Amino acid sequence: MSSEIFDKVRGILSVLQEQMIGDLKDLEAFRVQYLGSKNVIKTLFGEIKNIDNDRKKEFGQLLNEVKNAAEEKYTHWKEILEGDMIAESDADLDLSAPSVPLTTGSRHPVSIILNRIIHIFERIGFIVAEEREIEDDWHNFTAMNTPEDHPARDMQDTFYLKDSTTELLRTHTSSVQARIMMSQKPPIRIIAPGRVYRNETISSRSHCQFHQVEGLYIDKGVSFADMKQTLLYFAREMYGPNSEIRLRPSFFPFTEPSAEMDVYWGLNNEDDYRITKGTGWLEILGCGMVDPNVLKNCGIDPEVYTGFAFGMGIERQAMLQHKITDIRQLFQNDTRFLKQFSGVV
Ligand code: DAH
Repeated sequence: MSSEIFDKVRGILSVLQEQMIGDLKDLEAFRVQYLGSKNVIKTLFGEIKNIDNDRKKEFGQLLNEVKNAAEEKYTHWKEILEGDMIAESDADLDLSAPSVPLTTGSRHPVSIILNRIIHIFERIGFIVAEEREIEDDWHNFTAMNTPEDHPARDMQDTFYLKDSTTELLRTHTSSVQARIMMSQKPPIRIIAPGRVYRNETISSRSHCQFHQVEGLYIDKGVSFADMKQTLLYFAREMYGPNSEIRLRPSFFPFTEPSAEMDVYWGLNNEDDYRITKGTGWLEILGCGMVDPNVLKNCGIDPEVYTGFAFGMGIERQAMLQHKITDIRQLFQNDTRFLKQFSGVV
Protein backbone atom coordinates (compact mmCIF):
# COMPACT_ATOMS: atom_id res chain seq x y z
CA MET A 1 0.00 0.00 0.00
CA SER A 2 2.74 2.45 1.04
CA SER A 3 4.73 2.53 -2.18
CA GLU A 4 1.58 2.88 -4.30
CA ILE A 5 0.51 6.00 -2.53
CA PHE A 6 4.06 7.36 -2.73
CA ASP A 7 3.91 6.94 -6.52
CA LYS A 8 0.55 8.67 -6.60
CA VAL A 9 1.87 11.69 -4.77
CA ARG A 10 4.94 11.89 -7.01
CA GLY A 11 2.59 11.76 -9.98
CA ILE A 12 0.58 14.67 -8.60
CA LEU A 13 3.79 16.64 -8.11
CA SER A 14 4.92 16.24 -11.70
CA VAL A 15 1.44 17.05 -13.10
CA LEU A 16 1.33 20.12 -10.94
CA GLN A 17 4.76 21.22 -12.13
CA GLU A 18 3.90 20.77 -15.78
CA GLN A 19 0.41 22.24 -15.62
CA MET A 20 0.03 25.17 -18.03
CA ILE A 21 -1.36 28.41 -16.72
CA GLY A 22 -2.35 30.77 -19.50
CA ASP A 23 -4.64 33.28 -17.85
CA LEU A 24 -6.25 34.29 -14.59
CA LYS A 25 -9.01 31.66 -15.09
CA ASP A 26 -6.42 28.86 -15.27
CA LEU A 27 -4.75 30.32 -12.21
CA GLU A 28 -7.99 30.26 -10.23
CA ALA A 29 -8.61 26.62 -11.23
CA PHE A 30 -5.08 25.78 -10.11
CA ARG A 31 -5.69 27.51 -6.79
CA VAL A 32 -8.91 25.61 -6.13
CA GLN A 33 -7.27 22.29 -7.05
CA TYR A 34 -4.12 22.61 -4.98
CA LEU A 35 -4.67 25.35 -2.44
CA GLY A 36 -8.47 25.60 -2.02
CA SER A 37 -10.35 24.41 1.06
CA LYS A 38 -10.88 20.92 -0.39
CA ASN A 39 -7.58 20.60 -2.23
CA VAL A 40 -6.01 17.24 -3.14
CA ILE A 41 -3.00 17.69 -0.90
CA LYS A 42 -5.20 18.05 2.16
CA THR A 43 -6.93 14.75 1.39
CA LEU A 44 -3.56 13.06 1.07
CA PHE A 45 -2.43 14.37 4.46
CA GLY A 46 -5.40 12.38 5.80
CA GLU A 47 -3.75 9.21 4.44
CA ILE A 48 -0.77 9.50 6.78
CA LYS A 49 -2.45 7.19 9.29
CA ASN A 50 -2.34 4.36 6.74
CA ILE A 51 1.38 4.68 6.06
CA ASP A 52 3.87 2.32 7.72
CA ASN A 53 5.37 3.95 10.76
CA ASP A 54 8.94 3.97 9.44
CA ARG A 55 7.86 5.85 6.28
CA LYS A 56 5.46 8.34 7.86
CA LYS A 57 8.14 11.02 8.06
CA GLU A 58 9.17 10.57 4.43
CA PHE A 59 5.55 10.78 3.34
CA GLY A 60 5.00 13.97 5.28
CA GLN A 61 8.07 15.54 3.68
CA LEU A 62 6.90 14.56 0.22
CA LEU A 63 3.49 16.11 0.81
CA ASN A 64 5.11 19.31 2.06
CA GLU A 65 7.17 19.39 -1.10
CA VAL A 66 3.98 19.21 -3.17
CA LYS A 67 2.34 21.90 -1.08
CA ASN A 68 5.34 24.26 -1.40
CA ALA A 69 5.59 23.67 -5.14
CA ALA A 70 1.89 24.55 -5.51
CA GLU A 71 2.25 27.73 -3.45
CA GLU A 72 5.35 28.83 -5.30
CA LYS A 73 3.84 28.25 -8.69
CA TYR A 74 0.69 30.09 -7.69
CA THR A 75 2.44 33.25 -6.44
CA HIS A 76 4.81 33.22 -9.40
CA TRP A 77 1.99 33.19 -11.97
CA LYS A 78 -0.19 35.54 -9.97
CA GLU A 79 2.53 38.17 -10.14
CA ILE A 80 3.03 37.70 -13.85
CA LEU A 81 -0.66 37.67 -14.79
CA GLU A 82 -1.68 40.55 -12.55
CA GLY A 83 1.31 42.53 -13.83
CA ASP A 84 -0.01 41.93 -17.35
CA MET A 85 -3.35 43.28 -16.30
CA ILE A 86 -1.77 46.47 -15.04
CA ALA A 87 0.22 46.77 -18.24
CA GLU A 88 -2.97 46.38 -20.28
CA SER A 89 -4.74 49.03 -18.26
CA ASP A 90 -1.77 51.36 -18.94
CA ALA A 91 -3.00 51.53 -22.49
CA ASP A 92 -6.00 53.53 -21.23
CA LEU A 93 -3.82 56.09 -19.46
CA ASP A 94 -4.41 59.71 -20.29
CA LEU A 95 -0.86 60.96 -20.63
CA SER A 96 -1.98 64.56 -20.70
CA ALA A 97 -3.60 64.35 -17.25
CA PRO A 98 -1.78 66.24 -14.49
CA SER A 99 0.48 63.95 -12.48
CA VAL A 100 0.12 63.05 -8.83
CA PRO A 101 2.33 65.53 -6.95
CA LEU A 102 5.53 63.98 -5.61
CA THR A 103 6.37 64.63 -2.00
CA THR A 104 9.86 66.09 -2.04
CA GLY A 105 12.29 66.16 0.84
CA SER A 106 13.42 69.35 2.52
CA ARG A 107 16.81 70.83 3.18
CA HIS A 108 18.24 70.38 6.64
CA PRO A 109 18.30 73.68 8.59
CA VAL A 110 22.08 73.32 9.02
CA SER A 111 22.48 73.04 5.24
CA ILE A 112 20.22 76.04 4.72
CA ILE A 113 22.44 78.28 6.87
CA LEU A 114 25.66 76.72 5.55
CA ASN A 115 24.63 77.34 1.95
CA ARG A 116 23.76 80.96 2.71
CA ILE A 117 27.13 81.55 4.37
CA ILE A 118 29.01 79.93 1.47
CA HIS A 119 27.07 81.98 -1.03
CA ILE A 120 27.80 85.25 0.81
CA PHE A 121 31.56 84.63 0.87
CA GLU A 122 31.72 83.23 -2.66
CA ARG A 123 30.42 86.56 -3.91
CA ILE A 124 33.59 88.27 -2.65
CA GLY A 125 35.99 85.70 -4.03
CA PHE A 126 36.33 83.11 -1.26
CA ILE A 127 36.69 79.55 -2.52
CA VAL A 128 35.32 76.55 -0.64
CA ALA A 129 38.02 74.22 0.71
CA GLU A 130 37.04 70.90 2.23
CA GLU A 131 39.39 68.76 4.24
CA ARG A 132 39.49 65.62 6.39
CA GLU A 133 37.56 65.17 9.62
CA ILE A 134 40.10 62.68 11.00
CA GLU A 135 43.13 64.84 11.66
CA ASP A 136 46.50 64.56 13.31
CA ASP A 137 47.42 66.68 16.30
CA TRP A 138 49.97 68.62 14.26
CA HIS A 139 47.39 70.18 11.91
CA ASN A 140 44.70 70.51 14.57
CA PHE A 141 46.89 71.92 17.38
CA THR A 142 50.64 72.28 16.84
CA ALA A 143 50.57 74.12 13.52
CA MET A 144 47.89 76.35 14.98
CA ASN A 145 50.30 77.48 17.69
CA THR A 146 48.55 75.56 20.48
CA PRO A 147 51.05 74.70 23.24
CA GLU A 148 51.73 71.04 24.08
CA ASP A 149 50.12 71.44 27.49
CA HIS A 150 47.02 73.32 26.29
CA PRO A 151 43.86 71.95 27.96
CA ALA A 152 42.05 71.65 24.61
CA ARG A 153 44.36 68.76 23.73
CA ASP A 154 43.10 66.87 26.75
CA MET A 155 41.27 63.58 26.26
CA GLN A 156 38.43 65.24 28.13
CA ASP A 157 37.94 67.70 25.28
CA THR A 158 39.17 65.85 22.20
CA PHE A 159 38.15 62.51 20.74
CA TYR A 160 41.34 60.58 19.91
CA LEU A 161 41.16 57.52 17.69
CA LYS A 162 41.40 54.21 19.50
CA ASP A 163 44.90 53.51 20.79
CA SER A 164 46.27 56.73 19.30
CA THR A 165 47.68 59.83 20.92
CA THR A 166 48.11 61.68 17.65
CA GLU A 167 45.08 60.88 15.46
CA LEU A 168 41.90 62.63 16.42
CA LEU A 169 38.55 63.93 15.21
CA ARG A 170 39.20 67.56 14.40
CA THR A 171 38.01 69.88 17.14
CA HIS A 172 37.69 72.88 14.83
CA THR A 173 37.87 73.72 11.13
CA SER A 174 40.99 75.78 11.86
CA SER A 175 42.97 72.62 10.99
CA VAL A 176 42.01 73.31 7.37
CA GLN A 177 44.01 76.55 7.56
CA ALA A 178 47.19 74.54 8.14
CA ARG A 179 46.39 72.06 5.36
CA ILE A 180 45.73 74.84 2.86
CA MET A 181 48.74 76.96 3.78
CA MET A 182 50.99 73.90 3.50
CA SER A 183 49.73 73.12 0.01
CA GLN A 184 49.01 76.51 -1.60
CA LYS A 185 50.92 79.71 -2.10
CA PRO A 186 49.38 83.09 -1.20
CA PRO A 187 47.18 84.80 -2.13
CA ILE A 188 44.86 82.43 -0.30
CA ARG A 189 41.18 83.20 0.16
CA ILE A 190 39.17 80.22 1.36
CA ILE A 191 36.23 79.26 3.50
CA ALA A 192 36.13 75.77 4.96
CA PRO A 193 32.75 74.44 6.06
CA GLY A 194 32.49 71.11 7.87
CA ARG A 195 31.80 68.94 10.84
CA VAL A 196 33.83 69.18 14.03
CA TYR A 197 33.83 67.05 17.18
CA ARG A 198 34.30 67.72 20.88
CA ASN A 199 34.06 65.53 23.91
CA GLU A 200 31.12 67.46 25.36
CA THR A 201 28.16 66.34 27.39
CA ILE A 202 25.14 66.50 25.13
CA SER A 203 22.46 68.94 26.26
CA SER A 204 19.93 71.30 24.72
CA ARG A 205 22.74 73.83 24.17
CA SER A 206 25.77 71.74 23.24
CA HIS A 207 26.54 68.62 21.25
CA CYS A 208 29.60 66.45 20.67
CA GLN A 209 29.40 67.09 16.96
CA PHE A 210 28.55 70.31 15.17
CA HIS A 211 29.45 72.40 12.13
CA GLN A 212 31.75 75.35 11.64
CA VAL A 213 32.81 77.57 8.78
CA GLU A 214 36.42 78.71 8.80
CA GLY A 215 37.68 81.67 6.77
CA LEU A 216 41.24 82.47 5.81
CA TYR A 217 42.63 85.33 3.75
CA ILE A 218 46.38 85.68 3.23
CA ASP A 219 48.14 88.10 0.95
CA LYS A 220 50.61 90.97 1.03
CA GLY A 221 49.31 93.87 3.12
CA VAL A 222 46.12 92.32 4.53
CA SER A 223 45.08 94.39 7.54
CA PHE A 224 42.72 94.30 10.50
CA ALA A 225 40.59 96.87 8.69
CA ASP A 226 40.15 94.41 5.79
CA MET A 227 38.91 91.83 8.26
CA LYS A 228 36.46 94.25 9.84
CA GLN A 229 34.96 95.28 6.50
CA THR A 230 34.70 91.66 5.34
CA LEU A 231 32.91 90.62 8.51
CA LEU A 232 30.63 93.67 8.42
CA TYR A 233 29.70 92.74 4.85
CA PHE A 234 28.94 89.19 6.03
CA ALA A 235 26.80 90.37 8.95
CA ARG A 236 24.76 92.70 6.74
CA GLU A 237 24.14 89.99 4.13
CA MET A 238 23.22 87.45 6.77
CA TYR A 239 21.32 89.53 9.33
CA GLY A 240 19.99 92.45 7.31
CA PRO A 241 21.42 95.57 5.63
CA ASN A 242 21.26 97.69 8.77
CA SER A 243 23.05 95.21 11.02
CA GLU A 244 25.64 96.56 13.43
CA ILE A 245 28.67 94.61 14.59
CA ARG A 246 31.14 95.02 17.42
CA LEU A 247 34.52 93.37 17.99
CA ARG A 248 35.54 92.45 21.53
CA PRO A 249 39.18 91.64 22.31
CA SER A 250 39.66 87.93 22.93
CA PHE A 251 42.32 85.24 22.82
CA PHE A 252 43.01 82.37 20.42
CA PRO A 253 46.45 80.74 20.11
CA PHE A 254 46.36 81.06 16.30
CA THR A 255 45.56 84.76 15.97
CA GLU A 256 47.15 87.94 17.29
CA PRO A 257 45.34 90.19 17.95
CA SER A 258 42.18 88.11 18.42
CA ALA A 259 38.57 89.17 18.73
CA GLU A 260 35.05 87.90 19.03
CA MET A 261 32.39 89.45 16.88
CA ASP A 262 28.86 90.25 18.02
CA VAL A 263 25.92 91.23 15.85
CA TYR A 264 23.23 93.49 17.23
CA TRP A 265 20.11 91.38 17.63
CA GLY A 266 17.87 93.79 19.46
CA LEU A 267 15.94 93.73 22.72
CA ASN A 268 12.30 93.80 21.71
CA ASN A 269 10.87 90.92 23.65
CA GLU A 270 11.53 88.42 26.39
CA ASP A 271 13.17 85.93 24.00
CA ASP A 272 15.66 88.59 22.90
CA TYR A 273 16.65 89.17 26.54
CA ARG A 274 17.16 85.45 27.07
CA ILE A 275 19.09 84.85 23.82
CA THR A 276 21.38 87.86 24.21
CA LYS A 277 21.65 87.57 28.00
CA GLY A 278 20.15 91.02 28.29
CA THR A 279 22.78 92.79 26.18
CA GLY A 280 21.06 92.83 22.79
CA TRP A 281 24.30 91.54 21.24
CA LEU A 282 24.88 88.04 19.87
CA GLU A 283 28.27 86.44 19.63
CA ILE A 284 28.68 85.00 16.15
CA LEU A 285 32.34 84.21 15.55
CA GLY A 286 35.97 84.30 16.63
CA CYS A 287 38.54 86.03 14.44
CA GLY A 288 41.88 87.74 14.29
CA MET A 289 45.10 88.35 12.40
CA VAL A 290 46.87 85.07 11.68
CA ASP A 291 49.66 84.68 14.23
CA PRO A 292 53.15 84.95 12.61
CA ASN A 293 54.00 81.62 14.29
CA VAL A 294 51.16 79.92 12.38
CA LEU A 295 52.41 81.35 9.08
CA LYS A 296 55.94 80.19 9.90
CA ASN A 297 54.76 76.70 10.93
CA CYS A 298 53.05 76.35 7.58
CA GLY A 299 55.90 77.62 5.43
CA ILE A 300 54.70 81.18 4.74
CA ASP A 301 57.05 84.10 5.41
CA PRO A 302 55.38 86.43 7.97
CA GLU A 303 57.73 89.25 6.89
CA VAL A 304 56.10 89.21 3.46
CA TYR A 305 52.54 88.08 4.09
CA THR A 306 49.82 88.85 6.58
CA GLY A 307 46.31 87.52 6.86
CA PHE A 308 43.13 87.24 8.84
CA ALA A 309 41.09 84.24 9.88
CA PHE A 310 37.70 83.63 11.41
CA GLY A 311 35.64 80.69 12.56
CA MET A 312 31.92 80.49 13.24
CA GLY A 313 29.44 77.88 14.43
CA ILE A 314 26.52 76.93 12.22
CA GLU A 315 24.08 75.28 14.62
CA ARG A 316 23.75 78.38 16.77
CA GLN A 317 22.94 80.53 13.76
CA ALA A 318 20.44 77.96 12.47
CA MET A 319 18.81 77.85 15.90
CA LEU A 320 18.57 81.63 16.10
CA GLN A 321 17.15 82.10 12.66
CA HIS A 322 14.59 79.32 12.93
CA LYS A 323 13.81 79.70 16.65
CA ILE A 324 14.99 76.20 17.50
CA THR A 325 15.48 75.85 21.24
CA ASP A 326 17.16 72.41 21.50
CA ILE A 327 20.32 71.66 19.48
CA ARG A 328 19.58 67.91 19.63
CA GLN A 329 16.69 68.40 17.22
CA LEU A 330 19.27 69.16 14.54
CA PHE A 331 20.75 65.67 14.85
CA GLN A 332 17.73 63.45 15.40
CA ASN A 333 16.43 63.50 11.83
CA ASP A 334 12.83 63.40 12.97
CA THR A 335 10.93 64.01 9.75
CA ARG A 336 8.15 65.89 11.60
CA PHE A 337 10.79 68.46 12.59
CA LEU A 338 12.61 68.50 9.25
CA LYS A 339 9.42 68.82 7.19
CA GLN A 340 8.92 72.31 8.60
CA PHE A 341 11.82 73.51 6.45
CA SER A 342 10.43 72.29 3.16
CA GLY A 343 10.52 75.04 0.59
CA VAL A 344 13.28 76.95 2.42
CA VAL A 345 16.48 76.99 0.39
N1 DAH B 1 38.74 77.63 16.10
C1 DAH B 1 37.98 78.49 17.01
C2 DAH B 1 37.00 77.65 17.79
O1 DAH B 1 36.70 76.55 17.35
C3 DAH B 1 37.25 79.55 16.24
C4 DAH B 1 38.17 80.54 15.61
C5 DAH B 1 38.56 81.68 16.32
C6 DAH B 1 38.66 80.36 14.33
C7 DAH B 1 39.40 82.60 15.77
C8 DAH B 1 39.52 81.30 13.76
C9 DAH B 1 39.88 82.43 14.50
O2 DAH B 1 40.00 81.16 12.54
O3 DAH B 1 40.70 83.34 13.93
O4 DAH B 1 36.49 78.07 18.77
